[in-house]
Amino acid sequence: MLINFTDYQLPVTSYQLPVTSPQSPVIIMLKTHHCGDLRPVHAGQTVTLAGWVHRRRDHGGLIFCDLRDRSGLVQVVFDAAMSAEAHRLATEVRNEYVVQVEGEVRLRPPGLVNPNLPTGEIEVGARRLVILNPAQTPPFPLNEEVELSDTVRLKYRYLDLRRLRMQRNLMLRHRVNTFIRQYLDERGFIEIETPILLKSTPEGARDFIVPSRLQPGKFFALPQSPQQMKQLLMVAGFERYFQIARCFRDEDLRADRQPEFTQLDLEMSFVDSQDVRDLIEGLVTAMFRTLSTKTIRQTPFPVLTYAEAMARYGSDKPDLRFGLEFVNLSDLVADSGFSVFAEALAAGGEVKAICVPGAGGFSRRQLDELTDEVRSKGARGLVWMKTEGGEVRSPAAKFLAPETLTAIRARCGAGPDDLILIVADKPAVVAEALGHLRLLLGHRLGLASPDELACAWIVDFPLLEWNEEENRWEARHHPFTSARDEDWPRLETEPGAVLAKAYDLVCNGMEIGGGSIRIHDQVKQSRLFSVLGISPEEAQIQFGHLLEAFQYGAPPHGGIALGLDRIVAILADEDSIREVIAFPKTASGTDLMLNTPSPVSPRQLAELHIAIRENGR
Ligand code: AMO
Repeated sequence: MLINFTDYQLPVTSYQLPVTSPQSPVIIMLKTHHCGDLRPVHAGQTVTLAGWVHRRRDHGGLIFCDLRDRSGLVQVVFDAAMSAEAHRLATEVRNEYVVQVEGEVRLRPPGLVNPNLPTGEIEVGARRLVILNPAQTPPFPLNEEVELSDTVRLKYRYLDLRRLRMQRNLMLRHRVNTFIRQYLDERGFIEIETPILLKSTPEGARDFIVPSRLQPGKFFALPQSPQQMKQLLMVAGFERYFQIARCFRDEDLRADRQPEFTQLDLEMSFVDSQDVRDLIEGLVTAMFRTLSTKTIRQTPFPVLTYAEAMARYGSDKPDLRFGLEFVNLSDLVADSGFSVFAEALAAGGEVKAICVPGAGGFSRRQLDELTDEVRSKGARGLVWMKTEGGEVRSPAAKFLAPETLTAIRARCGAGPDDLILIVADKPAVVAEALGHLRLLLGHRLGLASPDELACAWIVDFPLLEWNEEENRWEARHHPFTSARDEDWPRLETEPGAVLAKAYDLVCNGMEIGGGSIRIHDQVKQSRLFSVLGISPEEAQIQFGHLLEAFQYGAPPHGGIALGLDRIVAILADEDSIREVIAFPKTASGTDLMLNTPSPVSPRQLAELHIAIRENGR
């Protein structure tokens, strides 16, 4: 497919070129205009352009060349009758040659206007051509939309980035950064950079570590986030801090995870949760309205408790562009006698359903596929229910009384064309399996509009999480997150019931931010460490700097971090954050262009006092 030239208009206004005047005849740029900026008003002007040859068509005496720079494309015509030398040189140029062209802008004859190109009403008649740099044939065409493997794209990322899609995505990312900086500056925030060579900051992933040459056997850790530094900046009295911060987490990678990613990191003093949420909601709403044509589904953003989100959607990051909400059938089927339901309930489980509108016609094969889907998420099976000619059809129909079937359909609000899907299992399995089906069907049936941004706050997360393997409580967020005021008294007696002053921002089924109000009181911090099984000595080693700082007058404070890569991906309609990062890593954490990670020389290793064990042993 050829690139649609209407698309070749980048979502930024072109930058201003320096003007050369008779008083300052020094030409400080190789061009007077950007290719994509030329319009009929320029007709008659002599212009100098510079860019890449996008496409060339040789018609003998006439050679047509689409010249491309960051702003777009313009057609340049080399006419042997106008300049024999320019025409001769133009026979030599190939795609992606870097050239400079001087010529005259002229209106195209009416029949030759290209309505698909912003510059389609004009062309440039070339008088002079300079080949600034020839180019080898690129490994893939840059003037056509072709399916390319990620391997090729990432190996030649600098060429991949020349393509319209990537130019646009990075341009959008730049605008997001610029918007954020201005918005926060206007509200009294200051941007402060914090170190990259840091100490371990627990955010739930593994650290990347950097050996110290000067201090043998000692290491820095790259920040998983600037969490502790921003809290120290609050102790330092800055009150409102932000940073567009690079974070590093050695974790398994997915479409929405990179080992090196960017956060809008922010912290405020003398605030409570609502203040942080209001500020961020204002920023996100204004930014989405300015930089996206998508519609924000609901403002103010809905606020759901974690428990509510899990009960209704089986997820703490629900996609709220569509309903398909869970319906709890446990009480209806408690005495039904159907063993699948009875066993699940007896084991402390639940029976929940989703009602899929218009899916009553799904074939047996489709239903079997859905069953496989829930099994892949750990459920034992799927009970479906539909109607055919007024009769309820379901593998469970013969085990359930007619009035139970009617009650189930009524509670689900099912119409004659709808399909009910039921999972009976432990709550965590129901959430996982039915939540998976909900997303799968929501997307497959086109219920998730690509033109909508459904944002919501998820609040009241549990403060702690039980780690089965290690048999101990863990901080769900990080160990500086405060419990709700009313929950502090039961921290030691009912740790699992304590809720946190933590909030996540979700959008279209993605967690785009998370934060909390922090503990600023030393006694409370020590109590939490003790519940987490962190001894005072250990706490001193790991967080001594913070605990000490808190003795010198720490203001109440809290903050949040937004996942910038994820936000840009949503705005750019990209499924993977790789598409909005200039030089990302593959799923195995490799940079295919630089070929890293890679071995270092024995001399470097020796300097760092590091020996590599053969076979990893
Ligand atoms: P958290 O760990 O929730 O909070 O991270 C904040 C946001 O960062 C994004 N994110 C990622 N994006 C891409 N790749 C990754 N590997 C990745 N990991 C996280 C998500 C997430 O919501 N210090 C706290 C914030 C705070 O409490 O102020 C923190 O880092 O969008």
